[in-house]
Amino acid sequence: MQDPTRNNYWRASIKALRRVAAFAVAAFIISACGGDGGNQAAAGSDDTGQTAGQQAAEPTTGGFPSAPDGAIDQTLAAQGAEMFKSRGCVACHTFGGGRLVGPDLIGVTERRSFEWTYAMITNPDSMLANDKTARALLAEYYTPMTNQNVQRDEALALYEHIRDQNDGGDAVGD
Ligand code: HEC
Repeated sequence: MQDPTRNNYWRASIKALRRVAAFAVAAFIISACGGDGGNQAAAGSDDTGQTAGQQAAEPTTGGFPSAPDGAIDQTLAAQGAEMFKSRGCVACHTFGGGRLVGPDLIGVTERRSFEWTYAMITNPDSMLANDKTARALLAEYYTPMTNQNVQRDEALALYEHIRDQNDGGDAVGD
């Protein structure tokens, strides 16, 4: 009757060993999952940022006005020229003088739609957070364009100035 006893002894030992092994494996898996969990959380927030990047940013001033076309409104453009200085745009942008803190605004009426430019002028924060093109510019220029709290009428005047500096953009001569 020795054999069954021995068998029981070995069985018990093997069971104990298995428990230790299982515990070790479980501990390893838990720690490994902890690490992965952290990485997944980080990757998750990146993904969220990217998803948001595909959404268009809205202007803060309540919807888009319709794009100006036809001849330049010189009175409005002159107001815009003044505002370009008083609102500090001139510290970061030139028209044909090359890159400053921000891009040279010559050609901007061809590079971007009216809506995009309007949103950038009135709501750069949201554009830089959400819009792919604006984010690419930020990656190139490093400095985020400051939100100057530009209101709807001011933005329209500024845009008319930008259009004027760009020889009327694509509207003149139509
Ligand atoms: C502190 C510097 C700064 C000020 C002030 C500033 N901008 Fe900008 N602007 C930038 C930078 C930098 C970019 C490129 C995107 C970025 O990095 O934020 C930009 C982008 C732009 C663009 C898009 C240019 C393109 O090539 O697509 C327009 C249009 C623009 N700004 C207009 C204005 C107007 C109008 C004002 C004044 C109300 C103004 N900005 C004030 C720095 C500035």
